[in-house]
Amino acid sequence: MGISAPTVPTTNRHLVRWVDKMAELCEPARIHWVDGTQAEYDYLCAELVKSGTFTRLNQELWPGCFYARSAPTDVARVEDRTFICSLSKDSAGPTNNWQDPFEMRRTLKRLFQGCMRGRTMYVLPFSMGPVGSPMSQIGVQLTDSAYVVVNMRIMARIGAAVFAEIDKDVKRVVPCMHTVGAPLAPGQKDVPWPCNDVKYVVHFPETREIWSYGSGYGGNALLGKKCFALRIASNIARDEGWMAEHMLILGVESPAHEKTYVAAAFPSACGKTNLAMMIPPKGFDGWKVWTVGDDIAWIKPGADGQLHAINPEAGFFGVAPGTSAKTNPNAMATLARNTIFTNVALTPEGGVWWEGMTDEPPAELIDWRGERWTPEIGAKTGKPAAHPNGRFTAPANQCPTIDPDWEKPEGVPISAIVFGGRRASTMPLVYQAFNWSSGVYVGATMGSETTAAAAGETGKVRRDPMAMLPFCGYHMGDYFRHWLRMQRNLAATPRIFHVNWFRKDEDGKFLWPGYAENMRVLKWIVDRVHGRALARETPIGWTPYFDDINWKGLKFSQAAFDKLQEVDRSAWRKEVMGHEELLLALHDHLPPEMIYERELLICRL
Ligand code: OXD
Ligand code: MN
Repeated sequence: MGISAPTVPTTNRHLVRWVDKMAELCEPARIHWVDGTQAEYDYLCAELVKSGTFTRLNQELWPGCFYARSAPTDVARVEDRTFICSLSKDSAGPTNNWQDPFEMRRTLKRLFQGCMRGRTMYVLPFSMGPVGSPMSQIGVQLTDSAYVVVNMRIMARIGAAVFAEIDKDVKRVVPCMHTVGAPLAPGQKDVPWPCNDVKYVVHFPETREIWSYGSGYGGNALLGKKCFALRIASNIARDEGWMAEHMLILGVESPAHEKTYVAAAFPSACGKTNLAMMIPPKGFDGWKVWTVGDDIAWIKPGADGQLHAINPEAGFFGVAPGTSAKTNPNAMATLARNTIFTNVALTPEGGVWWEGMTDEPPAELIDWRGERWTPEIGAKTGKPAAHPNGRFTAPANQCPTIDPDWEKPEGVPISAIVFGGRRASTMPLVYQAFNWSSGVYVGATMGSETTAAAAGETGKVRRDPMAMLPFCGYHMGDYFRHWLRMQRNLAATPRIFHVNWFRKDEDGKFLWPGYAENMRVLKWIVDRVHGRALARETPIGWTPYFDDINWKGLKFSQAAFDKLQEVDRSAWRKEVMGHEELLLALHDHLPPEMIYERELLICRL
């Protein structure tokens, strides 16, 4: 191995013993202790180019960038193969797949036996959150995928500094096992994207362990992200009195340099990355939006009695299709260099392209499957050039609007929490919950409408509490209780809001322009937090008056605004009926506040 560390770079005997034991189980050909240096990254990328996993992009156009295509069977998170193996089924709750942990361990032992034959086992230490921050957590991932190592170097803090942290022996280390599940027989030629049709993404919440088998893609394989920072961290957070949330974090700075931080939870495909990197529109001279994170927030009560948040990640693993200089210029600037692209299309010049990047597609491309693609072929076959879940892995510090305090060890103070979904009807553009418990009810019952793509399902609302349905590592009813309890240790709770950028009129036309114009809503939220804006009381919460919104630079009539903000009592009665299914499923763990909030809402309607 060209760059392998000559000696074991840790004095932690537990870690060394565990690595030995796992090597005995997985039988790798060699072990590589990851030091996290640029030289190591360059070496691994060069090896990935040699093995055909990576294509080096045209360095004039895309400096420091690489391109990968996955196997067509390994393109997304596998929720139906994701398990929470708590000791009791009841602790996992009805929204998680559960299997008996003892049985699961037997299954995993069988699967992992010899799974790394012919491959290198990388020992990858990582810190979620800045190294040494009191809010950070540490893991070690053993993986047989160099692709995972180089992606993790962008998404987390890895290497020697983390070994040094482990050697202090003050923090628990979360062990993360990962294999693509494709051992090589002697002399067997490797494929560009090794993986297995059998897939398992397994969490043991009590022992804080992660075992992932068969996939090399995204959240299945970059174990610091969804597996650790949400599913395992939500368990740690509940036990320790903090919160691990599927939220972006942004800072709004006024012309007077007042900074207000907002955390926001939206289900997938609702524009979290766009909101986190927003550029204020015309009429907002001197205002600025700063980016702290686009996907995950760890939130803890600070010494000042306020909630403080860190972004545990160091990069953005963003969906490429739809990202453009128009929709998100900051994302485009972030991914312009030192980025890994997966499952987008390749241009003849050695660049990348995806649907939505430009108005006109290039005349010819190699698509994400490696086949020739032209706009004509696309029109005829209906096949996109980039996979809809094609991704960029880009360093957060390359974002032009990255907040100067984004790596502050104690995090940034959170003044507002925003929930939102994609709702064609019923939900106004914005409203503020009456208080913390009604806000928790708003988050617990939030949902997003399924699109016309799924036959017969159009307009059906899928409940996704706090956008955590696939990511909460324990019983959702207990999770609501934890949210409610958080208030008790706070001198000041953040204000809670709900937004909906996606309300439509009778003709199916969006009522709100969205994107940068969402700044107008953000400003009202900030003004409410600071006690500066008035609001109208409605049955569901506080809503803005027309004059409370800054309309400078946008022509928007009072009538259009009234339509956008309308609270239709009969639609809302149906909405509350729609909450029933989830609340019933969770009923034996449901905190009483959820029942009372529902009753109060019904009474007000
Ligand atoms: C997601 C992601 O699937 O962030 O939510 O990748
Ligand atoms: Mn996410």
